[in-house]
Amino acid sequence: MSNIIILGAQWGDEGKGKLVDLLSEKFDIVTRYQGGHNAGHTVFIGQKKFVLKLIPSGILRGKRAVIGNGVVLDPAALLEEMTSLEASGIDVAGLLSISNRAHIIFPFHRLVEKASESRSDRTAIGTTSRGIGPCYEDKIARRGIRVADLLDREGFRQLYRVLAEDKQTIAEAFRLEGAIDYAKIRDDYECFADRIRSMVCDTSRLLNQAIQQGKRILFEGAQGTMLDIDHGTYPFVTSSSAAAGGACTGAGVAPTRIHGVIGVSKAYVTRVGSGPFPTEALDEAGERIRRAGNEFGAVTGRPRRCGWFDIPLLRYTSAINGFDSIVITKLDVLDGFPEIKVCTGYRVNGRVTDEIPATARLLEKVEPVYQMLPGWEASTRALVDHRALPDNARRYLDYLSKQVGVEIGCISTGPERNETIILPGSRFEKLIG
Ligand code: GDP
Ligand code: IMO
Ligand code: MG
Repeated sequence: MSNIIILGAQWGDEGKGKLVDLLSEKFDIVTRYQGGHNAGHTVFIGQKKFVLKLIPSGILRGKRAVIGNGVVLDPAALLEEMTSLEASGIDVAGLLSISNRAHIIFPFHRLVEKASESRSDRTAIGTTSRGIGPCYEDKIARRGIRVADLLDREGFRQLYRVLAEDKQTIAEAFRLEGAIDYAKIRDDYECFADRIRSMVCDTSRLLNQAIQQGKRILFEGAQGTMLDIDHGTYPFVTSSSAAAGGACTGAGVAPTRIHGVIGVSKAYVTRVGSGPFPTEALDEAGERIRRAGNEFGAVTGRPRRCGWFDIPLLRYTSAINGFDSIVITKLDVLDGFPEIKVCTGYRVNGRVTDEIPATARLLEKVEPVYQMLPGWEASTRALVDHRALPDNARRYLDYLSKQVGVEIGCISTGPERNETIILPGSRFEKLIG
């Protein structure tokens, strides 16, 4: 019985939500392990569109959904998402379990983020403004407040007072005094505590007991490997461990209990927010991809930056995550392009390499080396059989797989779960069982 991690191989928005929805039926529990409501995972069920931010996508299929300890939780955002899902008939309170060790986001985290993002002496990261980074800062600084603390009223008041005093000092430095009503926030959060109490437990224990009983767990990554705090394009990253390793620490499940890692990658690349993006297409082609792929942020509505498939980047994220198989999504978006560019290496000081420089400044400077591949005229939209793929689409995929050195086990040809090709005999097929 295999437990699998599914995560983004690029800079997020690769189509993880669709894949998790597709695979959910084969699993008993779906768990998030990092990030917070900065994620936006889109799932179509028939005509109905859901955008999951904090709650694991598996809940839409009636699966037990777990918010792990590695997630940062904004209770107001959670309750809002719950209300909207419950209006669609989903029994969120009955299906959701929240880790007692997850850290809590407070409104002042958003204010601190805003102040930090608007500093004139620093390039803004272009965050989602959800308070994610400042909450993780408090976690690492060992002054954060966790769900279990929130539920313990007396303990909470004490911890809250200290944290609030801390924030007050920062607010004064940023000249934000008066903008934060600490007593109101405390009272609001005490009400939130009562509303989430019944769903809170030790989710690591829940997951490990489920594994012992032979149940299958699907770990749903948020963001993408290039946004990982350690391995991404620092400092233009998110503040959590989005790579596969984060699933163990963020869910409290040992590496020995995980049997496979699946990377999700678009057939091209997108990125939201600032930071280096070697294959960004700032020309007509990039615009065409944005239009065809409807590349606008699921959470913030921002236009996504678009560009060509980047082989060095996928080799890098494959190595870090140990992908068993890659899913290529949005192949249909490239339909009708006469030629498709693929980046095969980076030219740095006249030398071609596939090594990703450690600094954003150096990565900004690399010059991508491109291979032109012929496009395909026919539509791939909604194809479900690999034999129906146009020859050049198959050649394109074979080329990517060979160059990256990992199988492509699944191809997504549209936003709905049935618009998917699963390659027969692939490792992907075996892993999902
Ligand atoms: P996630 O954050 O990784 O779950 O991805 P998002 O939901 O933010 O963005 C992916 C977008 O592409 C969503 O609007 C999906 O509905 C859509 N999508 C996913 N797979 C496909 C596909 O194969 N083809 C097309 N045309 N759209 C897709
Ligand atoms: P999903 O799960 C794409 C980006 C932001 C910004 C950087 C830091 O839908 O793939 P943060 O608010 O996390 O501190 O912002 O990370 N970012 C994402 N980009 N998809 C996401 O999530 C993202 N979550 C954060 O745009 O550049
Ligand atoms: Mg998204």
